[in-house]
Amino acid sequence: MATIEDLRNYGYRILADVFKTQADNLAYYDPRLDADVILQFVVKKDLAYIIINAEEELEENVVRQYKELLDRRKLFEPVAYILGQKEFYGINFYVDKRVLIPRPETELVIDQALKCFNKETSSFFLCDIGVGSGAIVLSIVHELCRRFGRDYLQRGKIVATDISEDALSVFSINCSRLGYTSLISAINTNIIQGLEISKNNSLCLFVSNPPYVMDGQQLARDISGYEPTTALYSGPDGLDAIRALMQQTSAHMNSGAKLIFEFGESQATGINGIVIEHVGKEPVFLKDLAGINRICMVGS
Ligand SMILES: C[S@@+](CC[C@H](N)C(=O)[O-])C[C@H]1O[C@@H](n2cnc3c(N)ncnc32)[C@H](O)[C@@H]1O
Repeated sequence: MATIEDLRNYGYRILADVFKTQADNLAYYDPRLDADVILQFVVKKDLAYIIINAEEELEENVVRQYKELLDRRKLFEPVAYILGQKEFYGINFYVDKRVLIPRPETELVIDQALKCFNKETSSFFLCDIGVGSGAIVLSIVHELCRRFGRDYLQRGKIVATDISEDALSVFSINCSRLGYTSLISAINTNIIQGLEISKNNSLCLFVSNPPYVMDGQQLARDISGYEPTTALYSGPDGLDAIRALMQQTSAHMNSGAKLIFEFGESQATGINGIVIEHVGKEPVFLKDLAGINRICMVGS
């Protein structure tokens, strides 16, 4: 019978070998981490348990499941899709190939968005444009609920849009799991087309992580082979969705709304120009932990 230690080493060796011979960029892949995360999932224990109980023998069906999931990773399927889950902002999100896997840098959008709310906010409109799994809006809503209580959410109208019906199906799974279905309207549209937005709120906030990769740009094999193209690519310079975002939200910006969105490396200069063109003044940029301009904030 195989022990936890046997399987740990087996998984690591198999994946290290595949990545070494087939990966586009070896530094991007971590066979030890992937093998351990998959093992924790099948054993239903955390890493500390796996390390401490290395000699524990595993049932045949657990070994079989582990090997099946490793086979999928050997084909470069992202671990989050294999497990059907990704932790983001302390929440476990359901994910599959219909949505982008939430990335840690997007947590900055949430941190900034939360700064816009306080106890005195009497009415608000919050809209997540390109909601995908719901990572942004559900994290904001969850945190508002934790800070101010669930009744606080009654002060607002909360909307999530996506051009992909498939993505909205995944969003509705996460929305329902977290218990927010009745509080958030999910709309299948291009950016905010057709939305009715009242000007009478004390806060009007748009948040987004739009697609921003240049058409044709090469991405790691597990991204390009599995994640939805509508969630990634956005025209020759990667800025098409951001142009549309500015075009459709700028009228609201002129009446006091705010927009916070994520963008890609080296896009700040282009975005600065787009924002000035639409609202007549420069946005504020924030850097991520790697020191790269990553978040754009427009509006008062
Ligand atoms: C980069 S993903 C972000 C998903 C999620 N917000 C997150 O941060 O993990 C971009 C999302 O925008 C959606 N999208 C792309 N173009 C759009 C458009 N013109 N209008 C609305 N949604 C769009 C995609 O379907 C995708 O779900």
